[in-house]
Amino acid sequence: MRADASRTQQTPRPTSAPRPLDPCGIVIFGASGDLTARLLMPALYDLAETKNLPENFYILGAARKPLSPEQFRNQMQAAVNEFGRFRPEDQSKWKEFAQRVNYFPVDAKKAEDYQRLREHLKELDRQYGVPGNYLFYLAVPPGLYSPIVEQLGGAGLAASGPRGRGWTRIVLEKPIGHNRESARRLNKQVCEIFQEEQVYRIDHFLGKETVQNLAVFRFANGIFEPIWNRNFIDHVQITVAEDIGIGHRAGFYEKAGAVQDMIQNHLLQLLCLVAMEPPASFEATPVQEEKVKVLQCMRAVNTGNAVRGQYGPGRIDGKEVAGYRQEEGVGPNSATETFAAVKFEIENWRWAGVPFYVRTGKRMARKASEITIQFRDAPLTLFACTAMQPCEPNLLTLRIQPNEGMGLRVIAKTPGLDVIGHSVQLDFAYSENFKQESPSGYETLLLDCMEGDPMLFARGDWIERSWELLDPLLKVWAENPPKDFPNYSAGSWGPPRADELLRRVARQWHLR
Ligand SMILES: NC(=O)c1ccc[n+]([C@@H]2O[C@H](COP(=O)([O-])OP(=O)(O)OC[C@H]3O[C@@H](n4cnc5c(N)ncnc54)[C@H](OP(=O)(O)O)[C@@H]3O)[C@@H](O)[C@H]2O)c1
Repeated sequence: MRADASRTQQTPRPTSAPRPLDPCGIVIFGASGDLTARLLMPALYDLAETKNLPENFYILGAARKPLSPEQFRNQMQAAVNEFGRFRPEDQSKWKEFAQRVNYFPVDAKKAEDYQRLREHLKELDRQYGVPGNYLFYLAVPPGLYSPIVEQLGGAGLAASGPRGRGWTRIVLEKPIGHNRESARRLNKQVCEIFQEEQVYRIDHFLGKETVQNLAVFRFANGIFEPIWNRNFIDHVQITVAEDIGIGHRAGFYEKAGAVQDMIQNHLLQLLCLVAMEPPASFEATPVQEEKVKVLQCMRAVNTGNAVRGQYGPGRIDGKEVAGYRQEEGVGPNSATETFAAVKFEIENWRWAGVPFYVRTGKRMARKASEITIQFRDAPLTLFACTAMQPCEPNLLTLRIQPNEGMGLRVIAKTPGLDVIGHSVQLDFAYSENFKQESPSGYETLLLDCMEGDPMLFARGDWIERSWELLDPLLKVWAENPPKDFPNYSAGSWGPPRADELLRRVARQWHLR
C-alpha cells in the first residue's frame, strides 16, 4: 500500500516516493480471459506508465489458447487501449512495455506443461535479468486453483527463498470456496504447498482509494474515535449497487448469486473496516487480526434478517433492459438471487445493539457504493425543521464510487426571523480537492504483491469465518426456492421487502 504509514510504530514514512522493487516475473494463468484483458493488463501498463514496475521484469501470459507471443501482445494492446487509465498512443512506450510481455500455452491440468513452464521461466529470467522471483496470478476459473497449486508445487515452483532472491508469491482471485468447508479445504491445500505469507487472496475493493481512505479517515482523525460506537451511532448502512446485469457471466453467476459474489467478500470487508478496533500499527498482521476479530463477534445470519431478490425487466437510463431470467445462459426458472440485503450484528462492547445493514444488487437504479453512518438523534428536540417536523438525523456518508468523497449532514438555521432548522451537507470530493487521478484497485494491489505487503489482502481465517456467517442463510435459501422471483424491476432499488427490513424498525435506506 503506497500511502503507507510507517511499518514500525515510529514516525510515519512520507508517501509516494517509488520504492525499489525486486526484479520479478509476473505469470498470469488465464491470460486469454476477461479479467486479464479488462483489469490486469491495463493495471500493469498503468504501473509501467507511472514508473512503478521493477526495472527488470517480465509478464508471461499462460492459457490453453494457442497464441503466438505477437498475437497475445496485439490483443493486450487493444485491451489496454480500451480499458487502461493511460492509452498507449505513444507507440514507442507500448513497444518498450510489450518487449516484456510474452505468452506460453499451458493446460493447467497437465503436469508435463509445468516442466516446460519451469524451463521457459529460467530462459526468461536470463533474458530479463530476473533472479527467480515469481508472482503467479491465478485468473482462472476457481476449480483450477487446486490443480494449479498442486502442479506448481510438484514442479518445484512454489518454494520461496529469502527476500530479494528467489521468492514466489501466488495470487488467488475470489471466490475462495463456495462455503466454509470448501474454503477450508482449499486454504489447507494451498498452505501445504505455500507458506501463508506467500498467499495473496485478492479483493480488488480493498485496493480502491476510497476504501483505503476509510482507515485513514478513522485512524488519522482524533475527533471521530470518541463517537464511533453504540453511544452515538444508531446504525450503519453499506450499499454496493450495480446498474449492469451479468453480461456473459451466467455460467459463474447462476451458481453464485449476490451473497457469494459480493457480500461474502466486498461488503463484509467494508463492514470490517468500519467496525474494527484501531490496530496496534498499520501493517498486515495487526490490521488482519482486527478484521478477523470483528467477524468473530458476529453471529451467523438467519433468514429473518435477510432479503433476496431477482430483477425482472425494466428501464435503466431510459432504455428497456431484460429481466435476469431472459439473460443469455440463465434458465427460465432460475432461483439465483441478483439482490441481497442482510442485517448483521456485532456483539462487542463497541457495537452491541447497532445494526449493520448491507445490500447489493445488479440492475439497480444506478451504480453507487456508499457507507452511511447514521448518528443518534439529539436527546431533546428544541428546533423543528419545518413548522411541523423534527430535524433529520446526522449522517456521515463515505462515497466509494462514483463522486468519490465524504459528506456530513448536519442541521443549520434557515435564514429568516424564525428559528427553523434545515439539513445541510458538508462535503469533500476527491476530484475537487486532489487533482491527480487515483490508481485502480488492481494497480495498488499488484504493486503490493510485488512489494510483499499483504495488508490489503484477505487472510485464510477471515475467508473461512465469513463463509461460516453466511452458510446457514445460503443453505435455507437453497432448500427453499423463492416463490416471488422476479420481485424487483431492473432500474429500481430492489424488492419492497428490503425497504421493509428497515421500515419495521423506523429506519430507511438513505442511498436511492
Ligand atoms: N472478470 C472479472 O471481472 C472478475 C472479477 C473478479 C474475480 N474474477 C475471477 O477471476 C477468475 C477469472 O475470471 P475471468 O472472468 O477472466 O474468466 P474467463 O474469461 O472465463 O477466463 C478464464 C481463463 O482461464 C483459462 N483457462 C481455463 N481452463 C484452463 C486450463 N485448463 N488451463 C489453462 N488455462 C485455462 C482460459 O483460457 P483458455 O480457455 O485459453 O485455456 C481463460 O484465459 C475467476 O476465478 C473469476 O471468478 C473475475
